[in-house]
Amino acid sequence: MDSELRSRLLEAGQTHLIDHAKLLSGNALARFEAQLRSIDFEQLHRLYSGHESHVNWAELAARAQSPPAVLLDDPRYTRAQARQRGVDALEIGEVAMILVAGGQGTRLGFDQPKGMFPIGPVSGRTLFEIIVHRLLATGKRYGKAIPLAVMTSTATHDATVAYFETHNFLGMPKEDLFFFQQGQMPAVDAETGKVLLSGVGEIALSPDGHGGMLAALAGSGLLERLCVDGVRHLYYGQIDNPLLGVCDPEFLGYHFLSESEMTTQVVRKTDPAERVGVLAEIDGKMSVIEYSDLPPDAAALRDETGELKFWAGSIAVHAMDVEFLCRAAADATSLPFHRAIKKVPFINEEGKVVTPPQPNAMKFERFIFDLLPAAKNAIVVEGRREDCFAPVKNADGAPSDTPSSSRAAISAQHRRWLEAAGAKVAPDAIVEIHPSFALDAEEVKAKVAPGSTFQGKVYLREGSST
Ligand code: UD1
Repeated sequence: MDSELRSRLLEAGQTHLIDHAKLLSGNALARFEAQLRSIDFEQLHRLYSGHESHVNWAELAARAQSPPAVLLDDPRYTRAQARQRGVDALEIGEVAMILVAGGQGTRLGFDQPKGMFPIGPVSGRTLFEIIVHRLLATGKRYGKAIPLAVMTSTATHDATVAYFETHNFLGMPKEDLFFFQQGQMPAVDAETGKVLLSGVGEIALSPDGHGGMLAALAGSGLLERLCVDGVRHLYYGQIDNPLLGVCDPEFLGYHFLSESEMTTQVVRKTDPAERVGVLAEIDGKMSVIEYSDLPPDAAALRDETGELKFWAGSIAVHAMDVEFLCRAAADATSLPFHRAIKKVPFINEEGKVVTPPQPNAMKFERFIFDLLPAAKNAIVVEGRREDCFAPVKNADGAPSDTPSSSRAAISAQHRRWLEAAGAKVAPDAIVEIHPSFALDAEEVKAKVAPGSTFQGKVYLREGSST
């Protein structure tokens, strides 16, 4: 090991890594040293010791106010006005979709990228297919293809790209589809701050949170490329939500009409313990308090009408201006790191793999929603939960956010569309409507005759006769 790297490790108190390097030679040593060189040990120390990331959430929550939200019936703009403004931007190709898909889906217990999980209640289409099909149909409706940027991580990249390649890019024109990879951060021992090893010659690294998107988007040149192509706004969503609005013109319209640099969609929380971040105004700035940071007694606070103070649950859908992102990307401090204590298997000094029974490691992640306080005119737009949020987080058997609850929500939405068109749907029917047949209730109305009947497994797609 060269003396410069050695002295950096000595200075950082990470001498176990020098000892470990002595066990390696040739390529394995070179690889290990390259990993070590890429780590900012000073930053790691600041993060571990709390100098860079300590926030008193209980105190912040006490100061925070409920956010003013553009409700569905905001008197400032009609829904039709908002929708038209969004349509205008889609027609001239100013909007691209960004999908974050770098998470490992541990809670779901699925060992492939979550986007490959089958979720169509009748078709078994995957999360990727559900979202891409809607994007294609939206582009077709407004006469302009919408580019899609998929953020992957080391854990999901190869399998995700291979999946798209072997499935004909799910119908996306290749020139409109981009993949970019987020960065990684080392995990450290929670007691000592020492960097953990996941194997011989391997640092325990994990994705740096979806906030890693900012650096990855700018660093890969993709942000600039989209900008050159005329994209001015990004519509951001998470792969785990099949009811996700995909470049929904009405949501975009509120963003434009309010001249907001970053807009977030929320649903009304009913259960204080629901695991969603909450939107709050802190010192006049729009912010998200993550569910793991919000003390339970603050989460349970209610106003005089009985409404939860922190009613605005984030569904992690944002509209973001490209110019704002460029400004934020140029500032290395624009996104703070959050610390989390997690179980991380590691190898001990004897080279044995230890699977800890209790959380043992500190991990560091950035969250994209931490850009909100810096955005001009940031607003919150409330959506109807049954139309925009049915995430797949946990395996079946868990109380909420499971594949079964998500499939049921898709079927219920599509049933509502048919019933609004005057169709009769058997109570036990399972319904799925492919966006090539209809993107929304209005389109169903135009295609399904009142009085039509549906039963059993109903799957309406392009060419289906009704
Ligand atoms: C997340 C939000 C929460 C929000 C909820 C809505 C965070 C920290 N919290 O919670 O405020 O109310 O969703 O469903 O995001 N991802 C990456 N790279 C990473 C980590 C995550 O791409 O390094 C992606 C995942 O693929 C997933 C999404 O981000 O699509 C959410 O990640 P997850 O860790 O599951 O967040 P939640 O705890 O469910």
